[in-house]
Amino acid sequence: MTQQLTETTQWQALAKHREAFGETHLRELFATDPGRAERLRLTVGDLAVDFSKHLVTDETLALLLDLAKARGVEPLRDAMFAGEKINVTENRAVLHVALRAPRGEQIEVDGEDVVPGVHEVLDRMSAFADRVRSGEWTGATGRRIRNVVNIGIGGSDLGPAMAYEALRAYSDRSLTFRFVSNVDGADLYEATHDLDAAETLFIISSKTFTTVETITNATSAKAWLLGQLGGDEAAVAKHFVAVSTNDAEVAEFGIDTANMFGFWDWVGGRYSYDSAIGLSLMIAIGPEAFGEMLAGFHTVDRHFRTTPLEHNVPALLGLLGVWYGSFFDAQTHAVLPYSHYLSKFSAYLQQLDMESNGKSVQRDGEPVAWQTGPIVWGTPGTNGQHAYYQLIHQGTKIIPADFIGFAEPVVPAADPRGAHHDMLTANFLAQTEALAFGKTREQVEAEGTAAPIVPHRVFKGNHPTTTILAEKLTPSVLGQLVALYEHKVFTQGAVWNINSFDQWGVELGKVLAKKIEPELVPDGTPAPSAHDSSTNALVATYRELRGR
Ligand code: F6P
Repeated sequence: MTQQLTETTQWQALAKHREAFGETHLRELFATDPGRAERLRLTVGDLAVDFSKHLVTDETLALLLDLAKARGVEPLRDAMFAGEKINVTENRAVLHVALRAPRGEQIEVDGEDVVPGVHEVLDRMSAFADRVRSGEWTGATGRRIRNVVNIGIGGSDLGPAMAYEALRAYSDRSLTFRFVSNVDGADLYEATHDLDAAETLFIISSKTFTTVETITNATSAKAWLLGQLGGDEAAVAKHFVAVSTNDAEVAEFGIDTANMFGFWDWVGGRYSYDSAIGLSLMIAIGPEAFGEMLAGFHTVDRHFRTTPLEHNVPALLGLLGVWYGSFFDAQTHAVLPYSHYLSKFSAYLQQLDMESNGKSVQRDGEPVAWQTGPIVWGTPGTNGQHAYYQLIHQGTKIIPADFIGFAEPVVPAADPRGAHHDMLTANFLAQTEALAFGKTREQVEAEGTAAPIVPHRVFKGNHPTTTILAEKLTPSVLGQLVALYEHKVFTQGAVWNINSFDQWGVELGKVLAKKIEPELVPDGTPAPSAHDSSTNALVATYRELRGR
């Protein structure tokens, strides 16, 4: 059995260090160390990352790095890149990094190089995307495709939906893209009711092709399409394609497997949008820009794989999360992008981080006795400033936050007077300054504030943030950002000794939902009594209300 994390000498050294660190303030750390900002700043790819506004000293970082070494972050990382089956509960390799490996690189699973297969699928996707974009691929009535609707959920939705939003400025604006995930019929209805089926392509994205929400939505989409196009099943082949690992289920659903784009069991759902799951995105931005995005991912993969831990940006981000989660009792982590295009980025990261590291047993099944993954949340600045930042500044909780910003707007036309982007950036920079340094009682008093109001206007400061700054949000930069978080999550999972690549915790609810679904029909039979009394009563109330 692996040594318990909290019993390692490295952990105990951190605990001692935390005690000595006490309430040390960032004001003091900056005042006594003129080189701090310069020293605690790293670059990866196009991302300049400022770690200096963290509650750390050089000693803290050294101790965290000792911990990472002792916990085997590097050997586990190497095992991942080597295609070893590090997803121990599913006996699978974890190779999303192969999805962006350049042609010619070799990564083997069970003795087989998987990179040629990755490029074969990318080539098929590219050819298909080009045909849709050029109008060569037409619907059943010969009209060109104008609307693309991706139907999927979880990793088969959040990635493409987030990335489409992030890169919509690079997309073909003559095409409409929609993403349907929720089994609430309202989602599909709102996505399709104003579309012409003759011009609509559905991409059914599901790794397993058994996810009930997706299959239900896909079945309804098929009915909607056939309803508009006269009921001839032959139309399906021109309007439905599938992205999946499961040929048999795709064929069973009625999609020609010639129109299926595959991927592999070594790609986790939440790590999959750079696989064929990104087909809708590729149609939107074109194969070339998609390739630039993959190259961006690969830049950070290479950095993570080859850079010593002390300069390894995702590893350091992961270690800082460990520091706050266990030694400062931080429960949440905010991701606050200062880009409207990144409006879905934090929601995307919720699955990436929380489905990966929301675990409470170790790789060998023993319970953990330490904190694991945080609650991840956030929305784009500056909107959050006018809503929940109050709590980050003056509440009782510590909320480490990542601020992500860009030097240039993506669309210059979005800022014709030049008045928006600098204002956005000024806010971006002001917030981390205010969070770190706050405003003292003396400063508030010196402003002539009335005595009873003074305590209300004091900002304690000392709130830790990472600032990530890039020149511009491009496909490559988006790939770099996502890979950065993927490897951060990996590092934390390694330190905590949990399996970041399964998700058994989602199963129980699925099983119970299957059982409850038929019970909801008010068919005159007695309401069920086999659940707990709360669930029994809720089912009975639903049946009564629905039956009226
Ligand atoms: O239920 C969770 C989950 O398995 C996610 O991990 C996954 O991204 C999502 O469901 C969708 O799964 P699929 O792509 O197989 O439909």
